[in-house]
Amino acid sequence: MSDLSGKLGLIVGVANKRSISWGIAQAANAAGARLALTYPSARLEENVRELAASLNNPLLLPCDVTSDQQIAELGVSLEREFGGLDFFVHGAAFAQKDELSNPFLQTTREGFRIALDVSAYSLIGLSRAVAPLMERRGGGSILTLTFIGSERVFTNYNVMGVAKAALESSVRYLAADVGPRNIRVNAISAGPIKTLAAAGIADFSSILGVYRERAPLRRGVDQSEVADAAIFLLGPAGRAVTGEVLMVDAGFHVVGF
Ligand SMILES: NC(=O)c1ccc[n+]([C@@H]2O[C@H](COP(=O)([O-])OP(=O)(O)OC[C@H]3O[C@@H](n4cnc5c(N)ncnc54)[C@H](O)[C@@H]3O)[C@@H](O)[C@H]2O)c1
Repeated sequence: MSDLSGKLGLIVGVANKRSISWGIAQAANAAGARLALTYPSARLEENVRELAASLNNPLLLPCDVTSDQQIAELGVSLEREFGGLDFFVHGAAFAQKDELSNPFLQTTREGFRIALDVSAYSLIGLSRAVAPLMERRGGGSILTLTFIGSERVFTNYNVMGVAKAALESSVRYLAADVGPRNIRVNAISAGPIKTLAAAGIADFSSILGVYRERAPLRRGVDQSEVADAAIFLLGPAGRAVTGEVLMVDAGFHVVGF
């Protein structure tokens, strides 16, 4: 396992103990990093605070990623408290419930806007806020989470698939933009995991079933497996990897017929 001792990290996207971002937070904490966790609303603050209590000296900050002001304030707070940043994990995503059950043809302008804003644009806005902090530490690593629904059709994934395509493209453009400052940008494309976000997708369990049947490893993946791959990309072992979408999906992506 890569050593993150002495590293400072920001993790956006912890909602509860099932969150993929929480798995990454636990692994990064165990590898020696000090973490800042965010909560998007007062309603979720209590959850995140309870979880964070098991981490080593965590920092808790508010950030609704739809607000430019809150993103800017997050940057200011991180500068004041940490003075710099080594890595940032982006695990925020959202689409309205109807958009994840209605036929894709019925996607609304507002539903499209919200899904792309929260799930894709936020990576750009947050990266802009943290890049100067990373530069101060000689570089850094940014990681987001995506799903193969960006490239292939999964029933009910709908506008979230479009958002993930935008997110993956943003990873490549950001990597090219901030690479000269020694900041890397990557994504992990995870297999399906039962989380709060997944619960919003109608009939999600049938996606899980397809992985158990067809993935080369004949199973899905769990939070800790995504977290282990994340630690590789966040830490020194991944130092030459950028602009990449790493498939952590029990091999599902290679299967045709
Ligand atoms: N669960 C899966 O099967 C799976 C598979 C591949 C990729 N992913 C991706 O992993 C990431 C994490 O999702 P998860 O499955 O752990 O579910 P999750 O519900 O635990 O995490 C989603 C997070 O997004 C946050 N969020 C939503 N709107 C926000 C806003 N306006 N401001 C700030 N935060 C906001 C939520 O608070 C939550 O913490 C998402 O990008 C998701 O698309 C999930």
